[in-house]
Amino acid sequence: MAQNTFHVPVLADEIVAFLVRKPGIYVDGTLGGGGHSGAFLRALHQAGYIEGSLLIGIDQDDAALMQAADTLREFEPFTVLVKANFEEISSVIESVCSKRNLAPKVSGILLDLGVSSFQIDSAERGFSYLRNGPLDMRMDSTAPFSAAEIVNTSAERELATIFYRYGEEPRSRAISRAIVAYRQKHGPISDTEELAGIIRSIAYGGDNVIKTLSRVFQALRIAVNRELDVLREALCDGIESLEDHGRMAVISYHSLEDRIVKTVFADQAREDWGPKGVALREPLKRGSIKLITRKPLVASAGETASNSRARSAKLRVIEKNPAGGSSEH
Ligand SMILES: C[S@@+](CC[C@H](N)C(=O)[O-])C[C@H]1O[C@@H](n2cnc3c(N)ncnc32)[C@H](O)[C@@H]1O
Repeated sequence: MAQNTFHVPVLADEIVAFLVRKPGIYVDGTLGGGGHSGAFLRALHQAGYIEGSLLIGIDQDDAALMQAADTLREFEPFTVLVKANFEEISSVIESVCSKRNLAPKVSGILLDLGVSSFQIDSAERGFSYLRNGPLDMRMDSTAPFSAAEIVNTSAERELATIFYRYGEEPRSRAISRAIVAYRQKHGPISDTEELAGIIRSIAYGGDNVIKTLSRVFQALRIAVNRELDVLREALCDGIESLEDHGRMAVISYHSLEDRIVKTVFADQAREDWGPKGVALREPLKRGSIKLITRKPLVASAGETASNSRARSAKLRVIEKNPAGGSSEH
């Protein structure tokens, strides 16, 4: 398998151990450079499961799909790579399975959220304040809105809401005011350096400018790619697509994502024990899933030392309960 310098997968051994337990259909909803998918396919091969297995890889970024096709070449007969947003996870699974006469129920799903190192490091994609490039930030380069549209056409109040809601930026109002004043004086803001310059220009002495820049760039990226909106739906649809005892693993990199994952999993795992004071032997309703990781798993010191991206990673894993059956097996 080709060496993957595109993006080093986070918590790969742990995820393989949680998800790969039998031959089946596995879905990598955030294919990236194919690092995790490669680890799944190698594990399936080593366990003698590869013949009965299929890996469906989804990404909305053409460059990622090209890289993954190269990384996974050796396992090509067992992979289907699809350009799509993972909010369409159900329809992708149904369409791939119907073409192959397979039941659309999957053994494992991975979502490794956010952007890849390759996307961040590509100046022309405009994701980073450290590299000058156009204010783009679209993971899918054919999507209608880039960061430039948001920064140059949103009203001051809308910008402040974006910075506050998606970046938890305490100075969201001051930053949006500075952007609008700059636009009025100099015209549209065209690149990442220009935007970073405006943010730096209003930093107070005590401000950690790097943190402010990270929060503002994160907020714009989330808004451009509708990252939080698509996540909730994808988690519910993904759970629906799992076979009995199938598992889903999600890695998040900031608290806004992790909060959504935690809430959706908790809601779906909740059992109904009826009114208080009534002693029941069984719940009235079982949860549709059980939590495999009660607390999120984080990377080891060894992994974070060699891969800085792993520092903020939080992994949560669930397992689908059989419909109407016991949650144990
Ligand atoms: C953190 S990287 C995944 C890296 C991958 N696990 C690997 O080992 O190479 C996230 C990838 O998911 C893609 N992505 C993020 N959100 C997506 C979405 N809603 N739909 C489809 N792809 C998405 C990004 O384009 C990026 O390539």
